[in-house]
Amino acid sequence: MQFKHFLKFSDFSREEYDYLFERARWIKQEFKQYRQYWPLSDRTLAMIFDKNSTRTRLSFEAGMHQLGGAAIYLSTRDTQLGRGEPVEDAAKVISRMVDIIMIRTYEHDIVKRFAENSRVPVINGLTDKYHPCQIVSDIFTYTEYRGSITGKTVAWIGDSNNMCNTWLQAAEIFDFKVHVATPPGYDIYPEQIGLIDTKHYEKFISPHKAVLDADLVTTDVWTSMGFEEEAEQRKNDFAEFCVNAEMMSLAKKDALFMHCLPAHRGEEVSAEVLDGPQSVVWDEAENRLHTQKALMEYLLLGKVVAGN
Ligand code: CP
Ligand code: NVA
Repeated sequence: MQFKHFLKFSDFSREEYDYLFERARWIKQEFKQYRQYWPLSDRTLAMIFDKNSTRTRLSFEAGMHQLGGAAIYLSTRDTQLGRGEPVEDAAKVISRMVDIIMIRTYEHDIVKRFAENSRVPVINGLTDKYHPCQIVSDIFTYTEYRGSITGKTVAWIGDSNNMCNTWLQAAEIFDFKVHVATPPGYDIYPEQIGLIDTKHYEKFISPHKAVLDADLVTTDVWTSMGFEEEAEQRKNDFAEFCVNAEMMSLAKKDALFMHCLPAHRGEEVSAEVLDGPQSVVWDEAENRLHTQKALMEYLLLGKVVAGN
């Protein structure tokens, strides 16, 4: 049987994202009207978590339930994965019992090896390298507020982490530009994330220069999960990288602010910006639900709307 995985943003084409967004809009509208839509009845999602989560767990679990299916939460702490069962064996077993699998873990290679041994679609719910589900939601959210993101400028301020890597991949697919400002020692590695060209990003040392005329300013925690030992060092290294009102004022007047959450007010973003009028962080979080419902529908049923 032919099926796809969703392990990184560049696994899907622009045409597939356009379709997903159309479905997400419809699914969101039906949900808001309390209209039942159960295309995945009798389908089961397994969610494997090796790291903490609020939004990812909730949006996948609630989303599967709302589509008529069931979701099972598996933590590596209390499965045999936590006692050394090979990822390949776990993938073979779990994928015989459920219809779709989401994994959040550390090394991206774990998700790849899992997918290679799975009989069903696998979704990356965050690795050290990528967070594709979040960027699908972020671009969907941008589009809701401002229309197409094509041709726009996104300022990425902070760590060259999983979110940054995924924005860079998305820029090539949606044809927009990322201004990347990271402190010395936290440079991006475009060749490690398979970027095709250098047209869709520009590197900056100064975050103030990176935000100039940006349509969207976005950041993330200075210390991602798995890097906790570096937290104190990172507080020093990123001290000039707080997105505050003064920094936001350099972007376009109607610029949006995004953060995947959880956020640390007073570190990577000031409370004034996070809770201010340009911030769309709560919509970003909610749209995880609607976009991932569209994603699960697509991975399990293919295109369900004629003419697409
Ligand atoms: N943004 C995000 O993925 O949040 P969680 O870590 O709460 O899932
Ligand atoms: N970059 C963060 C995102 C959390 C949703 C992390 O990996 O911890």
